Amino acid sequence: MECLIYPTAEELSRHAATRVALTVRTIPDAVLALPTGNTPLGMYREMRGQAAAGNLDLSRARLFALDEFWPLPAGHGGTFAAFLRRNLIDHVRVGAFDHLHSDAPDPVAECDRYAAAIAAAGGIDLAVLGIGRNGHIGYNEPGVAPTRDCLCVDLEEGTRKAAREYFPGFEPPSRGLTMGLRLILSARSVMLMASGTDKAAIIAQAFGGPVTLDVPASLLQQHPDVTIMQDVAAAAEYPCTGR
Ligand code: F6R
Repeated sequence: MECLIYPTAEELSRHAATRVALTVRTIPDAVLALPTGNTPLGMYREMRGQAAAGNLDLSRARLFALDEFWPLPAGHGGTFAAFLRRNLIDHVRVGAFDHLHSDAPDPVAECDRYAAAIAAAGGIDLAVLGIGRNGHIGYNEPGVAPTRDCLCVDLEEGTRKAAREYFPGFEPPSRGLTMGLRLILSARSVMLMASGTDKAAIIAQAFGGPVTLDVPASLLQQHPDVTIMQDVAAAAEYPCTGR
């Protein structure tokens, strides 16, 4: 496990974007799993800038959204697909973009379709993750079994509250669709980003504590190629010592 600390969230964002750029320089048609939320906003801003400057080429990359609310009408501004379009895909040329359909009538069938699409693309080269305050990655909430590639989950109240803060006036659905822990753990490389003091305690639990399904991110300790990228505020309780 590699653990990197940056003085500011801006520095973290810049290095995260550069890491994505390096991945697609090495593997132009890389399959990328991409998160939404507050943490990666700066990374997407940097990616747009690097693409405009000719330093990031996603024109052959295959992008897959990590997760999605369910159910929500397609095209609703609160969907993660809309988030990714607004922050990245509408601004840069990408090889392909797929996402879980928030309006799918049958969430299980939609998960099967999505997992099959990712398998057909050759699996994930780089999974970019944030971390929930409860340790979730994607929308794999505490206690979710690590045996699925994609699943429909009940969201914890804290997760919905965080979404309300992020999308003012939006009442998030109580369920989500997400790449499962099995699929995330099968990614050839994983990069987890965390910024801000409100992530410090969970980062310490996830990477300084035992591997437990109660803290889904802790399962990443068992992955052979994980990089934790955090700003100093998130690193306050887990300053990467001993790694
Ligand atoms: C979102 C996702 C979630 C978030 C996590 C942190 O696609 O998969 O796991 O990464 O909830 O969200 P922020 O960055 O808003 O703190």
